[in-house]
Amino acid sequence: MPKFYLTTAIDYVNSRPHLGTAYEKIAADVIARYKRLCGVETRFMMGNDEHSQNVFQRARELNKEPLAFCDEMESAFREVWRRLDISFDDFIRTTESRHRVAVTTLVSRIAEAGDIYEGFYEGWYCVSCEAFKQEKDLIDGKCTVHQKSPDWIKEKNYFFRLSRYQERLRSHYEQHPAFLEPQSRRNEILRLIEAGLEDISVSRTGQSWGIPLPSDPESVVYVWVDALINYASAVGYGVDDSLFEKWWPADLHVIGKDITRFHCVVWPAMLMSAGLSLPRQVFGHGWVHWQGQKMSKSLGTVVDPLEAADRLGPDPLRFYLAKEIAFGQDGDFTWERFRDRYNVDLANNFGNLVSRVVSMAHRYRQGRLIVPAREPGPLASIATDTVSAYRRAMDGYALQQGIEAVLSLVDATNEYIATVEPWAVAKDPTRSDELDRQLCDMAESVRIAATLLSPVMPSACREVLGRVGTVAVGDSVDELDLDRDGVWATLPGAERCLVKGPALWPRLEEGVLTMNENADQQPVPEKKEPVSVVAETPSSDASEEPLISIDEFFKVELRVGRVVLAEAIPKSKKLLRLEVETGSGIRQIVSGIAKSYTPESLVGRHVVYVANLKPAKLMGIESNGMVLAATDVNGEAVLIEPEDVPRAPAGSEVK
Ligand code: MSP
Repeated sequence: MPKFYLTTAIDYVNSRPHLGTAYEKIAADVIARYKRLCGVETRFMMGNDEHSQNVFQRARELNKEPLAFCDEMESAFREVWRRLDISFDDFIRTTESRHRVAVTTLVSRIAEAGDIYEGFYEGWYCVSCEAFKQEKDLIDGKCTVHQKSPDWIKEKNYFFRLSRYQERLRSHYEQHPAFLEPQSRRNEILRLIEAGLEDISVSRTGQSWGIPLPSDPESVVYVWVDALINYASAVGYGVDDSLFEKWWPADLHVIGKDITRFHCVVWPAMLMSAGLSLPRQVFGHGWVHWQGQKMSKSLGTVVDPLEAADRLGPDPLRFYLAKEIAFGQDGDFTWERFRDRYNVDLANNFGNLVSRVVSMAHRYRQGRLIVPAREPGPLASIATDTVSAYRRAMDGYALQQGIEAVLSLVDATNEYIATVEPWAVAKDPTRSDELDRQLCDMAESVRIAATLLSPVMPSACREVLGRVGTVAVGDSVDELDLDRDGVWATLPGAERCLVKGPALWPRLEEGVLTMNENADQQPVPEKKEPVSVVAETPSSDASEEPLISIDEFFKVELRVGRVVLAEAIPKSKKLLRLEVETGSGIRQIVSGIAKSYTPESLVGRHVVYVANLKPAKLMGIESNGMVLAATDVNGEAVLIEPEDVPRAPAGSEVK
């Protein structure tokens, strides 16, 4: 069985994860889940980088022992990763003894190779980067990443003969053009190597927080050297030889572009010196930006990933980050864009497709589809091409393109439904076989789309697979296998039971999930419930909802009203402002039916509305009630009107 060892950068624990650090873990998790979907034995490693001065200082500020503080932070980090559904196989902390043994062993091997010597360092040091800086690395005397003035330090240091590896590194890059991706980063690093490498400090003096240098326990190993070795210690280096032999070298290190030099110059040179194989590939992803700047705790520009996941769910967040930020490039996060993409891609597109397919299967076949002997329709070949395009993209870590490929299958399926009009076919009993074929093909298309998106949205896709009758709801997507499940199923006679459920991603109106850009950069939470007055999807019927008593039903006051004025609401595609004559006056109601009715067509019509609903503001306009509408198979609103208006004029009670 092929295998794949994948790592992310290990995080400093002086503060909790933010959306930028979470982005890296989510992207790596999509890759890990994709590999597992392809049947590859995968080891996905994450962890915490604890021997940083920042961590030590933060613990002191909080009057805590550094290790006790790191223990607390481990729980906080694990909780974030759990809630974002990150499926790491193991989690390493640099204060663990397995790591200490690995660092001691590897540093000793470098020393034995004659690559460590004693010296003296005088120069800049940026504690936020944990990096020695040269004058040319600073702008206006400040570190360019953290925009802080570095410290000037003078201390005894042990140095690593990095310069000795310049030629070997250059030739490694030449022989392994894919060692560092994307290519832009590779060019940057190659230029750096070709410009000449200087030896680097690998120890710090006068510090107690760290792993003692084997040759001089008065010094500690420089935190970056310590941290890089985690990739080896996590698979048993120096402790469990058979584990190490099985997994080393790593297949892929996923890291941010700010730390490529450490991973693509220092780390390979350390491994060369210690006589170990080099990782097969390093991928330097871009930054998540917030208001035009790198999202960073020290810059004060962070969004809490749990806040984002709580607002719309972890799967939509994973989807947004993987689709909207091309892997390898920088990308923006804004609350508005997050909401808009959620509405377009998930609520209106994929979610709506799932609802329509399940709804039609129930309407025309009581939810039970039997694959007919007829040839599959055009969706079969589109789905097959989609799977190939998806594989190509995902194998090259073009996560965004992989997702786009699946969305084009979703679009094609929506178009197919609009073209073949199953509702018209259903009216003709002689075309029953044709309808069976259409329903089966749509369901199959949704199944393939959910299978392919499962690495991105594991729990939502499990739900979708359950609804189209392929996975018992509750089963995990971990059992999926792309070779088997990414193939269009054509078996005549096979049966599939589709399951109804509530809207997977209820559409959010404008105004929900807005961000006060000038406030303290925290989202302004508004109520999450969909504010639309039109049922979100045509999927569920009363039999699935919890039952209510007749007394509860009578609490709802329904009345007939007559629309006397209707007008569009600026900036809203969905809402109309209505003035409704109630029999005893005029009432203002905001209604989400603009996509189905023009304002002119409503004036003079009788409608049924909820008369005792608490007033609510929609797009800043007060709504005193809710107009009732059914939803047709295309998600369009269909108003409920009294059959005989003169007998049930405005003001009549509806029961
Ligand atoms: N501890 C070091 C890594 C050691 S790996 C041997 C470190 N830690 S970090 O907490 O500062 O960053 C962890 C990862 O998150 C890094 O890969 C970093 O590039 C990434 N990111 C930090 N901010 C980010 C964004 N705003 N956007 C995307 N990734 C970001 O560096």
